[in-house]
Amino acid sequence: MNLIVMGPPGAGKGTQSRWLGERLDVPVISTGEMLRDEIKRKTALGTQAKRHMDKGELIPDALMIRVIEERLKRQDCKRGFILDGFPRTVAQAEALHRMRASLGGTIERAVSLSVPNEELLKRLSGRRTCRECGAMYHIIFDPPTNEGLCNKCNGELYQRDDDHEDIISSRLEIYDAQTAPVLEYYRKHRQLVEVDGVGGRDDVLDRILAALGVAKS
Ligand code: AP5
Ligand code: MG
Repeated sequence: MNLIVMGPPGAGKGTQSRWLGERLDVPVISTGEMLRDEIKRKTALGTQAKRHMDKGELIPDALMIRVIEERLKRQDCKRGFILDGFPRTVAQAEALHRMRASLGGTIERAVSLSVPNEELLKRLSGRRTCRECGAMYHIIFDPPTNEGLCNKCNGELYQRDDDHEDIISSRLEIYDAQTAPVLEYYRKHRQLVEVDGVGGRDDVLDRILAALGVAKS
């Protein structure tokens, strides 16, 4: 199954994609994580991406499309994949559609998680991520057992540079202006599945699975 998980910053795309990936046994391709990894490794792409990400802006379409096209050609995507954070503009959605021959099929569903802005702000300002394994926590909703340390690998937890309030506001504005139109694109193509992203993480996952017609386990 080729799936897209969409939604505004903090909607739970990363959280739900990881679980869906395990449940469906397909790789999760998160453009945000790929870019953060490039920044960590100080590559040319990372340097360019950082300039945009630090301001909460999107990376230029041409660059992002090239990165994803290369990634989707890899062998592990042949039996399906989940895209977290791509496409984020109509131009990216159109490019993904053009890639379908090399993907061995089309995108079957675009799952959109809706969460009100007030809740997004709370989620993003309290998020902490493990530097080593990428596991996600929240200082109130899902705190680690030992403050500042990952439950899974004991790695250091950090706050993302773009999770500060002024940048969060820009990211939300950019979502409304540039990414919300992508929902319309998938609605028109009858591929959009809208899911309420508010509530416990397990409940949200159950809603997604039910909407996709996939058994719980
Ligand atoms: P990206 O990393 O994709 O960031 P984002 O879209 O802003 O989304 P987030 O990762 O912040 O949130 P999420 O929806 O994954 O929520 P999460 O599960 O973490 O992109 C970062 C940047 O990279 C972009 O701004 C852009 O610059 C660039 N970029 C990436 N892709 C691009 C593209 N295609 N084109 C151009 N530029 C691109 O959850 C958030 C928090 O809430 C966590 O603490 C979690 O524990 C908690 N939480 C999750 N679910 C629940 C729940 N049900 N109840 C309570 N808390 C919850
Ligand atoms: Mg994410």
